[in-house]
Amino acid sequence: MNTVKTLAQFIEQQANTTTDFILLLNDIALSCKQIARTVNRGAMAGILGSAETENIQGETQKELDIITNDIMVDALNWTGRLSGMASEEVDDPIAIPAEYPKGKYLALFDPLDGSSNIDINLTVGTIFSILEGRDGQDATLEDYLQKGTEQVCAGFVLYGPSTMMILTTGQGVNGFTLDEDIGEFVLTHQDMTIPEDTAEFSINMSNQRFWQEPVQRYIDECLQGVDGTRDKNFNMRWVASMVAEVYRVLTRGGIFMYPFDTRDPSRPGKLRLMYEANPMAFIVEQAGGVCSTGVERMMEVTPTDIHQRVPVILGSKNEVDRVVSYHQD
Ligand code: AHG
Ligand code: MN
Ligand code: MN
Repeated sequence: MNTVKTLAQFIEQQANTTTDFILLLNDIALSCKQIARTVNRGAMAGILGSAETENIQGETQKELDIITNDIMVDALNWTGRLSGMASEEVDDPIAIPAEYPKGKYLALFDPLDGSSNIDINLTVGTIFSILEGRDGQDATLEDYLQKGTEQVCAGFVLYGPSTMMILTTGQGVNGFTLDEDIGEFVLTHQDMTIPEDTAEFSINMSNQRFWQEPVQRYIDECLQGVDGTRDKNFNMRWVASMVAEVYRVLTRGGIFMYPFDTRDPSRPGKLRLMYEANPMAFIVEQAGGVCSTGVERMMEVTPTDIHQRVPVILGSKNEVDRVVSYHQD
């Protein structure tokens, strides 16, 4: 018999899971199924395009950035499992409305990652990180500012050719594919591991003139291929959706970087620590890879703001270690 294991069944069998946590994950899965449906309807729903508003990071929001944010907030705020939420699309932490009970978890999310790819019908995703707050109380800003090492769960959902959820609770990394026939995420990719070596890098080369010396050196050496010190040829990929990039690294290895650059002194990198870099770092480390800012293990960065940006270097261990060693030189 071909046994199907759903996300809920799988989580139930993991160690140290509480009913509240299983139900919270179920709520997140439900909102991601709604987002998958919404993104999939695309132009037919008349919701592609710009909302003509800016988020706190000065980025123009897409209509879908706002719609997907609202789907997540509406699915999570009333259930009594959270003491608060933080989203890329909302300036301040999102309080649980007074009429609803509070629970012990905090959910931080990027409701639509890679939203510049919406107009061109390429893969986008949702990234989430779960922390523990103070049970039964409204979360304060300080409650959110925990290091990545404190995460109890991290995951992302890919809206690509298949809809997939990649998840860790600190017991390895597993991948689930949405079976549209039964409406459930089912286990399809058990114990995902990142090969230690790779010959594939991923970086937005158009920013090259703004990078610092260690990243310039690493990419130069990759580009020299068999004619240089690395003595092997490298391939390059850039999707401009971190979710797609990290999924590729999880399946066939690679190194992904959005490094420090000098374009804007107020921005040490593009990606956000709390709902992009940290959840991806937890997943990558659990799969045997490494995630660093270049000078510090990502999950040990002390957060100062829910929207703070960090340089990100992640993927196959030996390549990330090499880039980190260039930063130490
Ligand atoms: P978001 O759509 O949530 O703002 O994130 C986009 C991020 C990330 O997914 C991707 O790796 C990067 O931005 C792409 O940046 P460039 O457009 O500078 O290449
Ligand atoms: Mn993003
Ligand atoms: Mn986003």
